[in-house]
Amino acid sequence: MARTPSSDDDILALRLDRSAPDLWPMLDALYGEHPAYPAFRERLLDTMRKAWADRAPDLKRLDLKRDLEPDWFQRPDMAGYVFYIDRFAGNLHNVLEKLDYLQDLGITYVHFMPCLKPRPGDSDGGYSVMDYRAINPAYGTMADFEQVTAELRKRGISVCIDLVLNHTAKEHDWAQRAAKGDPAYQDYYLMFDAPDLPKRYEETLVEVFPDNAPGNFTHYPDFGKWVWTTFNEHQWDLNWANPQVFLEIADIMLFLANRGVDVLRLDAVAFMWKRMGTRCQSEPEVHMLLQALRAVCRITCPAVLHLEEAIVAPAEMLPYLGRGRHDGKEGNLAYHNSLMVQFWSSLATRDTRLMTHVMGTHFPDRLTNATYATYIRCHDDIGWAVTDEDAAALHLSGPGHRAFLSDFYDGSFPGSFARGALFQENPATGDKRISGSFASLAGLEKAIAEGNMAEAEHATQRILMGHALIAAWGGIPLIYMGDELAALNDYSYRDTPEHAHDSRWIHRPRMDWTAAATRHDGLTHASRVWLGVRHILQRRRATPALHAAHPIRVVPCDIPQILAFRRDAPTGTLLCLFNFAESWAHVPEDWARAQGATRMQDELSNHPVETHHGNIALPPYARVWLA
Ligand code: GLC
Ligand code: GLC
Repeated sequence: MARTPSSDDDILALRLDRSAPDLWPMLDALYGEHPAYPAFRERLLDTMRKAWADRAPDLKRLDLKRDLEPDWFQRPDMAGYVFYIDRFAGNLHNVLEKLDYLQDLGITYVHFMPCLKPRPGDSDGGYSVMDYRAINPAYGTMADFEQVTAELRKRGISVCIDLVLNHTAKEHDWAQRAAKGDPAYQDYYLMFDAPDLPKRYEETLVEVFPDNAPGNFTHYPDFGKWVWTTFNEHQWDLNWANPQVFLEIADIMLFLANRGVDVLRLDAVAFMWKRMGTRCQSEPEVHMLLQALRAVCRITCPAVLHLEEAIVAPAEMLPYLGRGRHDGKEGNLAYHNSLMVQFWSSLATRDTRLMTHVMGTHFPDRLTNATYATYIRCHDDIGWAVTDEDAAALHLSGPGHRAFLSDFYDGSFPGSFARGALFQENPATGDKRISGSFASLAGLEKAIAEGNMAEAEHATQRILMGHALIAAWGGIPLIYMGDELAALNDYSYRDTPEHAHDSRWIHRPRMDWTAAATRHDGLTHASRVWLGVRHILQRRRATPALHAAHPIRVVPCDIPQILAFRRDAPTGTLLCLFNFAESWAHVPEDWARAQGATRMQDELSNHPVETHHGNIALPPYARVWLA
């Protein structure tokens, strides 16, 4: 006889049934041959049961609510803000005092940059974690953290934190035991007794930090091993082929979920599985692992989402959002790296044809249970992820275009408006990446230094156009701390010994609360950008067509400086136009009508667009959302 689910046990059992097909087949395939596999399955079930039993009632309620409203993160009222706790507010407790500032801007999601206990000294900005169950003592305690997440939850603000699962700090307890010779813990990492295998792997691997951490392995003579270290020497890659590693991370993941985290940013996921003869990125097992981890959360804490960080080419990125075999079952969010790269590329060339090609041909018009994290700047460098094939489609040379972009954004290309810094120049491959703040890369720093008011105005409009683009694309727009106040490059990192080698610190400034204090006056660049960003987020909230579930279709427009895409909502189409140049553009009204814009009403400015003899007149760096 049917009965009503009444107890917590029932709920967990139902969720286990629901997600069993997403979980066990992955684990069977990954670990089925392992002698400890049957015990592993039992222990995993146990881990989930315990975590569910420990989950606080208000979080269980949130689980239920979000299971009932699975599109909660796709709605246009979602807007993220990304910051380092110390640089924004000093410590966790002080973050609470800044919530009014965030709500004034329209923020409903915050990403605390790495906040778990890092190794001492250089910790790669916190991505070298020595204890996943402790908060960085400089920021506060786990109790403070829980207090902060509870307060944010009350205010309807979601919290994202990083879970670094490709590697731990070499100071992590597991790594310490491994270094002391414990074979069980040596199996948590990828360790070799001789350099032969590492050398063979190296033949097909790329280097992430060729400048300061060349190669992918580190030799430790004191314990006689070569250790896989994709990133820095102090970041030891975990061995995900060992089911014990899966159990440990699953347990940590649920522990963090129970502290009130809403979104787990799974760091550097592409690197999680190694296979000889490949680049060891995005191997099929990576997606099996991620689907299984996702299922563990859907069973135990369905309120929690996964944001996957995979900074790779378009075709390689989409599976992280659960396309193909893993449709709807992997990441709920993934960074839209291509959109970011193409924004900067089009801004430099004043030509959107490459962007239109890439965005229009490689991405589906909708995703299942997933959407993008859209952004223009983040704490990392910009790598020019433009493939040779895509460049060739526009009669460009891949290496040539990538070199141009680096030269443009480090400011060395003649006529460039940008000021930026090179990151990890690799003479072997010709690759060079770029660091710099949104405002400095967009021209504000140079314009101010040269006292060029017209250029400063262009820079301001470029910054607002970028924010209007990520607000309209579909996904959660992530505003990177400081960008809302047009923060310029911060060169002081060069005086900090543990940061001086890493130009990414140029765009990790301290929050300028003095500028924030006068944000409403409209008199400074900072204030004008701030008011503009707030306006964009307000209009986004008021525009239902921007719900991430509505399809997005890039439409080729014959005017190269104009990017056009449509959001096809059941209530009608929104045609979004962006002018990537400092000259005016004229878009035929007939063409806009043919694309579905019927009212010539700009939902972004909330005014009708200006038309002239059958043309829509678009000022420099215009952005309009035409209904
Ligand atoms: C991620 C982070 C980056 C870090 C790397 C290694 O890609 O965004 O800052 O250096 O992982 O953890
Ligand atoms: C590369 C990696 C990414 C990392 C970044 C750091 O883009 O793919 O994971 O965060 O480098 O600069």
